[in-house]
Amino acid sequence: MIVPIKQIITKAQQGSYAVGAFNTSNLEITLAIIRAAVKQKSPVIIQTSESAISYSNLQTLFAIMTNLANTTGKSVPIAIHLDHGKNTQIVKDCINIGYNSVHMDASEKDYATNVRLSKQMTQLAHQKKIWIQAELGSILGKEGMVKLTTGEINMKDLMTDPIQAKDFVERTKVDTLAISVGTIHGSFKGVEKVDQPRLKKIRELVKIPLVLHGGSGLSPQIFKQAIKNGISVINIDTNLRLAFKKALQSTISKESNIIDPRQILNPATEAMQREVERIMVIFGSYNKA
Ligand code: G3H
Ligand code: ZN
Repeated sequence: MIVPIKQIITKAQQGSYAVGAFNTSNLEITLAIIRAAVKQKSPVIIQTSESAISYSNLQTLFAIMTNLANTTGKSVPIAIHLDHGKNTQIVKDCINIGYNSVHMDASEKDYATNVRLSKQMTQLAHQKKIWIQAELGSILGKEGMVKLTTGEINMKDLMTDPIQAKDFVERTKVDTLAISVGTIHGSFKGVEKVDQPRLKKIRELVKIPLVLHGGSGLSPQIFKQAIKNGISVINIDTNLRLAFKKALQSTISKESNIIDPRQILNPATEAMQREVERIMVIFGSYNKA
């Protein structure tokens, strides 16, 4: 059942567990996320990037998510969120169509511009009683990973400054803050670490819920430590893509005679569901619906 995201995230922060925010772009991924939440009796955040929206269109993807959430997912609290909104028109469109939360990601801009855009979108979102996430510090992707390994960039320089985070939240009045503490978009097992002392410092100075991006590839120990040190929402995308691809390859190679897309896709949807279920146990959100 669709509920205000405030309800889901506030309970997680008070309960010292994390809620998973899982990316979707179609029916199968959305089914996998919602079926896992129902099975684990867990709250969940379903999120779409701008490219996921342009894969079909906003009205269609929003309808798939909300219809499934209010039918298949009616027994658990679910919220719909825009992930990494960089285009302010798309952020506004998601606010107007009824997303429960939006991420104004101006982290690549200079500080003053990030404050101005995040504050502007916060005013719009709050007029519609929806929550807004902003981002401070840079969270690398695979391109950045290359520069990191060549030493061209130093991870510490990209991380969120705790004192600036306090100032940023006071100026913008955002509801949640995405922080850079060492994670990377994509799955880089064993490479990604969380700067736990920096996370603790941010937690001390910033009271609103904190969001960890780039969750794929992190170990259960790192997740649990980060949750203990103040993380309430963790974003996961790549792990579902990896589960989907692995299952699809196995089905195609084993069952070469099947042609029905549902039969071909079902094992991949179930594999994504199992991955979401596994993560909900690590985050501690199971039985918290
Ligand atoms: O916003 C989405 C996430 O940060 C996804 O990161 O692909 O490393 O799980 P991930
Ligand atoms: Zn992210």
